Amino acid sequence: MSGIEIEGLRPLEGEVTVQGSKNAVLPMMAAAVLNRGTTVLHNVPRIRDVFCMLDILRAMGCECRLEGHTLVIDARTVSRIAVPREYVASMRSSIVLLGTFLGRCGEAATFYPGGCVIGSRPIDIHLDGLRKLGAVIENSGEKIVARTAGLSGGRIHFPYPSVGATENVLLAAVTAHGTTVIEGAAREPEIAGLCRMLVGMGAKISGIGEGTLTVEGVSTLCDSEYTAPGDRIVAGTYLSCVVSAGGRSYLKGVNAQELKGVLKVLRRMGADIETAPAGIRVYMGRRPGPAGIKTAPYPGFPTDLQSPFLSLLSVSDGCGWVWETVFEERFATAEELRRMGADIEIAGRKARVHGRYPLHGTTVTAPDLRGGAALAVAALAAEGKTEICGCSHILRGYEDLCGDLKSLGAKIRQQPGGA
Ligand code: UD1
Repeated sequence: MSGIEIEGLRPLEGEVTVQGSKNAVLPMMAAAVLNRGTTVLHNVPRIRDVFCMLDILRAMGCECRLEGHTLVIDARTVSRIAVPREYVASMRSSIVLLGTFLGRCGEAATFYPGGCVIGSRPIDIHLDGLRKLGAVIENSGEKIVARTAGLSGGRIHFPYPSVGATENVLLAAVTAHGTTVIEGAAREPEIAGLCRMLVGMGAKISGIGEGTLTVEGVSTLCDSEYTAPGDRIVAGTYLSCVVSAGGRSYLKGVNAQELKGVLKVLRRMGADIETAPAGIRVYMGRRPGPAGIKTAPYPGFPTDLQSPFLSLLSVSDGCGWVWETVFEERFATAEELRRMGADIEIAGRKARVHGRYPLHGTTVTAPDLRGGAALAVAALAAEGKTEICGCSHILRGYEDLCGDLKSLGAKIRQQPGGA
């Protein structure tokens, strides 16, 4: 997809099913490698990050079949322990394969994922955690090689509840000897989902959903099937779209409990929201009101929805603010929004936004995955045509942003010639 064109100022109306969660499925795919057999995952989103993880698993000897949204991974035939370098740059979360391959093969190698546009993203917490379980890690600053004569459980205290580090250590601990206690673990719903899947495979984990996870190592895992949850970040993006454009919609396939903090902010901005066991209904009959947002680890406001909300604040009828506490450089969208007429002042990790309505359509460039989607949120409240370039970022995490918004009545078009 090379670019997307959106003509704004049209209310949205209708129903859309939210895709399966990217951040849940990626570590689940890694978890499947721990089983010397077959694992089936349902509700797998057909997005670029999933395709990339599939390429990695295939390169490492797994047989993988994605049919529709069902993925079958046969990990009997793992033949390689090193993640090929070409994939590491395009998908940072391949780092969770370190824990998996250490657990499965006693050896793992990958390349340092490096920085990215939203911040430096170090992996010290991952590596310290794996060392505490008995891994010997050589880190040249470029290549990481981890080896162990056998992982043993231990007590690990994370200085920060890193999502990726929690997943990495969890995956390593599942088949380690003895008991591992992870204190200060991340509590994101995707981690609870991963734990439930692992329990279905025969792992012994307690404290699921809490800040302390206890894992009793087991020697083998078994074949299993698991359905990935709906993507709360995609749901939050679509809610932002409706609140930006105005209108009435029903989002199916998402657990509203996981979006509690986000729904609270949307209500404060004037949205009418009803939650049901299988989805969220939203109605917005006016321009959004202002709000203040501070991102934080779950259950705080998700950093992945900061950019879409920056767009909403840009069209609100007042002055709002954003305080980004998770990633130090996650304001690249602001520059693009300014091109559409937004009034945003950035000082360090804080942004002050003076709402203006409507914005005006122009050509903008997706700076990153969520920033790209945020530009669509802004375009829905912009006069005239907005052309969003660099949409390959969006394909990393959204299966069909264009199709979904079109089904809600947006005037949106994928530019011809796009992949
Ligand atoms: C995951 C999500 C990402 C989300 C983020 C925070 C996936 C595939 N990605 O990313 O969408 O935005 O959680 O909710 O699930 N940190 C360290 N040292 C470490 C690890 C992290 O200092 O070893 C810092 C990071 O630089 C960052 C913060 O901790 O400032 C949060 O990072 P982390 O929770 O690890 O995010 P990811 O797992 O990379």
